Amino acid sequence: MQRIPNQLLIIFGASGDLTERKLIPSLFDLYQGGHLPEHFAVLGVSRSNGDDEAFRNRLAVDNPHIPETIGNHGLRREFARKLFYFGLGESYDTDYVKLAERIEALHQSEQTDGNAMFYLSVPPKIYESVARNLHASGLADTSTGHRRLIVEKPFGYDLQTARALNRGLQQYFDEAQIYRIDHYLGKETVQNLLVTRFSNSIFEPLWNRNYIRHVEITNAESVGVGKRGGYYDTAGALRDMFQNHLLQIVSLVVMEPPIGPDAESIRNEKVKALKSLRIMRDAETLHRNTIRGQYLAGQVDGKEVPGYREEPGVDPHSTTETYAALKFYVDNWRWAGVPFYVRTAKRMPTRVTEIVIHFQSPHHQIFRESGMDSKDNKLIIRIQPNEGILIKFGVKVPGQGFSVERANLEFYYSDLSENRVMDAYERLLLDAMQGDATLYARADEVEAAWEFVDPILDFWKKGEGVDTYGYTAGMWGPRNADELFDGPYYWRNPGEHLRDDPGFCIID
Ligand code: BG6
Repeated sequence: MQRIPNQLLIIFGASGDLTERKLIPSLFDLYQGGHLPEHFAVLGVSRSNGDDEAFRNRLAVDNPHIPETIGNHGLRREFARKLFYFGLGESYDTDYVKLAERIEALHQSEQTDGNAMFYLSVPPKIYESVARNLHASGLADTSTGHRRLIVEKPFGYDLQTARALNRGLQQYFDEAQIYRIDHYLGKETVQNLLVTRFSNSIFEPLWNRNYIRHVEITNAESVGVGKRGGYYDTAGALRDMFQNHLLQIVSLVVMEPPIGPDAESIRNEKVKALKSLRIMRDAETLHRNTIRGQYLAGQVDGKEVPGYREEPGVDPHSTTETYAALKFYVDNWRWAGVPFYVRTAKRMPTRVTEIVIHFQSPHHQIFRESGMDSKDNKLIIRIQPNEGILIKFGVKVPGQGFSVERANLEFYYSDLSENRVMDAYERLLLDAMQGDATLYARADEVEAAWEFVDPILDFWKKGEGVDTYGYTAGMWGPRNADELFDGPYYWRNPGEHLRDDPGFCIID
């Protein structure tokens, strides 16, 4: 691993939920694991008044999201000394001269070598003004050290706003300095997709239309919208999960082999992959290939839960989708004719994200009688929970004749117990500190994803006869969800455990 330069991390939106829940706990874990550079400090910036001491206590010493373990109390205090606070006053759109002075003073006292990374954990509508003010006060100037800008999703509300946001930020920072965070790319199992595909000669030759019949991706959450009703009702599942996290996963499944492992080679292929998704434009195609749904009151994990329209902050007549399922094609040599089925939803029976590669049946069936052709070979890549890989294949039933049954071959990440798997934010923060943008989305990737999603959003908003189907919380979506599938296929509704059935076995 490259050495990480000494640096200062400046978090805008330091009194917010993300800073407390994710950013500071991840930094603490990095500190505990000895991954931070020798000279490192965090400056929290927000509009509230406050001082270093209160900030340190709230975010490090007493932060409920840093699990208390025997002996980490002292470490928390030690880590807390790396945290500082600066109150900007009433607005983020102000003069940053005083902030620049504080940053300069910290570079001196904490020996952070003039390097600065700005993390914008503030509403996207003010990204551009923060970038402009940083630039105006000389804080974007790279002559004394590196400058990086990390931004959180959503990157735009549609293609037009995403383009405007990208152009807005690029006036003040170069594209190479902008890190668009998508926390799914920080998940170890998402990254492992690249390794599964490009380091294994048992999979690589099969990864195309000749051997794969269809691809299925499920992202299910058992939670509802919780306290985020206000935001969610203006977004919906397609914007909240599909445009970003799921299309990132799709691009890793679809992409061609990159020339090398560097950020630009990988991101170039991802953009090409996203650009080859067939954009659905006419109403008939959109009608046939998309389903939106919304959860009604029901039971999840044995508990009664309210319907989406009863959630705080949600319009009681809302038709916003909490379930989105799409079928689409990829127009390139590798994937011609292979349908992709992708769905994301809240208030499903369990929390699970997985990719299922369904292989074609053997083209000459010798053991037709066995019924195996209706049980295809599958490669299941489990992203969460129970992270791992499962292969389903046919085995001969011992004894006379050739009866075939299906067996499981599985690998669990947890078996590699000596390697602690980093949390997505830890990994991504570390990469940005190192200047590695491989796992961050580039402007053209984000725009290509919107290009695919925009017509669907538009159709759902204005199309004639577009329904939002209700589904009871705790069920696998609306009743017609399987109608997307061609032939005798349907969604695999996975359980919490990767291995959903014992496979063929004989009990003596
Ligand atoms: C966020 C979405 O980006 O991802 C949330 O805004 C969603 O609505 C979350 O719950 C899911 O992340 P994870 O890592 O729990 O699958």
